[in-house]
Amino acid sequence: MDATVDQIRDALRTVRDPEIGRPITDLGMVRSVSVRGGIVDIVVLLTIAGCPLRERITDDVRDAVRTVPGVTDVRLTMDVMTDAERSSLRSQLQSGTAQRSAASQIGLTTRVYAVASGKGGVGKSTITVNLAAALAGGGMRVGIIDADIYGFSIPRMMGVGSRPTQIDGMLIPPMAHGVKVISAGMFVVGNAAIVWRGPMLHRALQQFVSDVYWGDLDVLLLDLPPGTGDMALSTAQLIPSAELLVVTTPQLAAAEVAERAGSMANQTHQRVAGVIENMTAMTLPDGSRIDVFGSGGGVAVAHSLSRLTDSPVPFLGDVPLSPDLCRAGDAGVPIVLSAPESLAGQAFTALARKLEARARSLVGRSLTVLPVAG
Ligand SMILES: Nc1ncnc2c1ncn2[C@@H]1O[C@H](COP(=O)(O)OP(=O)(O)OP(=O)(O)O)[C@@H](O)[C@H]1O
Ligand SMILES: [Mg+2]
Repeated sequence: MDATVDQIRDALRTVRDPEIGRPITDLGMVRSVSVRGGIVDIVVLLTIAGCPLRERITDDVRDAVRTVPGVTDVRLTMDVMTDAERSSLRSQLQSGTAQRSAASQIGLTTRVYAVASGKGGVGKSTITVNLAAALAGGGMRVGIIDADIYGFSIPRMMGVGSRPTQIDGMLIPPMAHGVKVISAGMFVVGNAAIVWRGPMLHRALQQFVSDVYWGDLDVLLLDLPPGTGDMALSTAQLIPSAELLVVTTPQLAAAEVAERAGSMANQTHQRVAGVIENMTAMTLPDGSRIDVFGSGGGVAVAHSLSRLTDSPVPFLGDVPLSPDLCRAGDAGVPIVLSAPESLAGQAFTALARKLEARARSLVGRSLTVLPVAG
């Protein structure tokens, strides 16, 4: 018995575009299928010329079609979508996913956490990538917006070197360790500096929110630049549902600064989802511990933020100071993946479990969209 066109199409339904994550048959990527004897002719359309995933898609299509009984040969032609086809794909992507507002590609049920601190270098980016990887590893659909436009560090920490594919002006974020990632670092050549005025930073974040295809995410993490500046305000304005995760070191001086980041939440009407202490006591090979940066900062910040915001702000946990953690950041693989059994790896897993529990409890959450000023 020869295979039928319907059988071939069914098989093609199992092939997903690696970037968009949906079946190629739903994305208008299969232009034609014909069968004569055991020979199958297929024309597959790539979204853009020079698509970096061309070989992967070719292999996946061949593998899928060969599973159909009666197929003896697959003749595959790869072509590229026309402008009109890309434009219709873009509209389909925009309308095909869950409830969202017009100015944003972020679903209304996505939990958004902005990782913030008053001070630089306390580990916001490290925490962002490890939480994202741990959540994705646990089966959640996760994205990261690197909102640190000048000081981007997410591409290096996640080991992403590719640029987003553009489909009719829509950006498809590259995936790394199961996480969708967008960063200003993907748009500069080499290690060039970004020299922009404030309003352009706002525009950049706006573009990450409105022009990036996020699909249906469970959790979106924003890695904020240090301080209580423009980007924090832009976040509050562009993603009113974003809650803050405040990062501090155990040092009380740093804790005071972290408090400032949290008190900003009062002014911008954002919720503080919790406090994370980083660079807590280091455990030495003989099992003894040293408090390099003192102790107690995280709990102190959680207490004072609870008072300041007049609602309970939980202390979510701490992450130990660890030289391996520092190295993992440079190697582009979050430690929660490269050494999950390490103390730091376990700490991130425990933090991620707490966030997962929150993400699942959507009960009582407001899904209303606040008016966006300016
Ligand atoms: N728990 C830790 N143990 C050891 N090193 C750490 C730890 N957390 C972060 N680091 C290292 O400290 C440095 C600063 O961390 P990171 O870049 O995550 O901080 P940040 O708050 O995002 O900084 P910035 O304010 O510049 O964006 C990095 O080199 C990182 O690898
Ligand atoms: Mg950072």
